[in-house]
Amino acid sequence: MLKTKLLIPLVSALLIFTSQSLMADEALARSKNCLACHGIDNKIVGPAFKDVAAKYKGDASAVATLAAKVRKGGSGVWGAIPMPPNGSTSEAEAEILVKWVLSL
Ligand code: HEC
Repeated sequence: MLKTKLLIPLVSALLIFTSQSLMADEALARSKNCLACHGIDNKIVGPAFKDVAAKYKGDASAVATLAAKVRKGGSGVWGAIPMPPNGSTSEAEAEILVKWVLSL
């Protein structure tokens, strides 16, 4: 009895926490203009974030490389169009965004 009483608030707190952190990452991507060039499911100017996630699946060193590329810009991986530098994105924000992208 006691266990169920404890479990229900615990599980709902966990659910609220996870859905909020997912939204926070998408909101950050929106506020940094990433979603102007990247769709989550579809290519716009840059590749779909789900395609990026699929490409780097299981590659542990990808986060650092991609976070640096997000900040400095880069080209040559997905096609002829380069990604311009995203100067207003801090190192920490770039890492959060890349981890979110790779989790899609
Ligand atoms: C002006 C358009 C534009 C904006 C804004 C933009 N990107 Fe990109 N992004 C691109 C293009 C184009 C590519 C493909 C570059 C290439 O082929 O190497 C790309 C590639 C990427 C990649 C994959 C890189 C690789 O080497 O595979 C990631 C991850 C990424 N972008 C994340 C972001 C994030 C996060 C933001 C927001 C801070 C962002 N992008 C903002 C256009 C954009």
